[in-house]
Amino acid sequence: MSKIANLEIDGKKYEFPLVVGTENEIAVDISSLRSSTKGIITIDPGYKNTGSCESAITFLDGEKGILRYRGYSIEELAEKADFLEVAYLLIFGELPNQEELEKFHADIKSHSVVDDDVKKILDAFPKSAHPMGVLSSLTSALTAFNPSSVDVNSEEQMYNAIVRILGKFPVLVAWTMRKKHGLPLEYGDDSLGYVENVLKMMFKSPNKEYEQNPILIDALDKLLILHADHEQNCSTSTVRITGSSHAGLFVSLSAGISALWGPLHGGANQAVLEMLEAIKEDGGDTKKYMAKAKDKNDPFRLMGFGHRVYKNFDPRAKIIKKAADEVLGDLGVEDPILDIAKGLEKEALEDKYFVDRKLYPNVDFYSGIIYRAMGIPTDMFTVMFALGRLPGWIAQWREMRLRKEPIGRPRQLYVGETQRSFKSINKR
Ligand code: SDX
Repeated sequence: MSKIANLEIDGKKYEFPLVVGTENEIAVDISSLRSSTKGIITIDPGYKNTGSCESAITFLDGEKGILRYRGYSIEELAEKADFLEVAYLLIFGELPNQEELEKFHADIKSHSVVDDDVKKILDAFPKSAHPMGVLSSLTSALTAFNPSSVDVNSEEQMYNAIVRILGKFPVLVAWTMRKKHGLPLEYGDDSLGYVENVLKMMFKSPNKEYEQNPILIDALDKLLILHADHEQNCSTSTVRITGSSHAGLFVSLSAGISALWGPLHGGANQAVLEMLEAIKEDGGDTKKYMAKAKDKNDPFRLMGFGHRVYKNFDPRAKIIKKAADEVLGDLGVEDPILDIAKGLEKEALEDKYFVDRKLYPNVDFYSGIIYRAMGIPTDMFTVMFALGRLPGWIAQWREMRLRKEPIGRPRQLYVGETQRSFKSINKR
């Protein structure tokens, strides 16, 4: 195959190198386009055809429904690894040995206390505040209490900022939920595993011992692994471009949390449950909602369906769907919402509109059903997505900084008014 791409504009020919990735993906390197054509650029709304970077963290093949973290398949990792191992793998590139994992966890635990003054910020929020807005604010506020996490240039400084946020973020997640539900803001127990500690911090009742439930631990561990990274999605791209100005890790993560909040992105898991609830209230009339989803004049979309990259089953959705059956069965939870979801999935997969557009269930379609069975409030679903995505965001931010990527600053095609003279107000 040729190593160059040819472009001809007004009879002039230009050559651009082709770059090939380790999975034989091919990209046209257009970094010399504007200079060699004296100002011509490309335009690609939503970056559907544009790569923003080279990355060695996550590979996904949307046509084949493949997802791998640092070369390991998501199916194997969900089955055999735990979340902290996967976090280490994403951030540092290799699965940790026992000693490395223990040191990583110990370093995280050494930073798992949050400055008590953060509670004053939390107190200032109304109980009606959405947890994602609270979490984004508190994550940014952590910078004020950890100034050493801002100007990180060495790998050692980065490591310290990374273990700090991995230690403190679960506390912010738990406090965000507890505050909204009038529960005291408590810590968990550093003698526990990472996920066990998250569950205890979230659910410990002030007046009785918290009993760990292995079903919940395994379910949350798997869900966090499945959400841990997903190459250059909207929120990860936000983290990378924010960090490219050398803004600190915590504020870059805060920006990513805000991007994830959107219902077209991570906010979809909450929107899916609200949609399924509406269908249930509507007598389970899935056909009405399918018609709305296909009606171009109706802004309604089938939440949890479709994906920018996957034009096949989202491999995570397959794993989560199976886990939903298992978790609800193990917990003895009968949830009619699960049956409605399965009915909707079946209808959509047989519907020409969805088949023609290759719209399949994505990661958000079934995850909320498990979160709900675990007793997690609906408005906390996207917070749980953020907790899972944290190591992926960190890994991508670290890769961008270690590769010394330039500040992100896209071009534009101006389509506004051409030059015109000022008019005094009495002439307008
Ligand atoms: C996540 O990018 C990632 O990796 C994200 C994520 C991650 O792990 O980080 O995987 C997590 O964000 C998953 C996606 C969660 N969002 C939803 O479930 C919301 C519902 N889905 C859609 O809004 C939509 O599918 C997107 C936003 C996910 C993708 O949109 P695209 O790629 O911009 O596709 P599009 O809007 O151009 O749609 C193509 C066609 C259009 O119809 P036509 O104009 O061709 O006639 O498909 C239609 C769309 O109207 N369409 C849908 C639909 N999704 C797309 N129609 C009805 N219901 C839907 N859900």
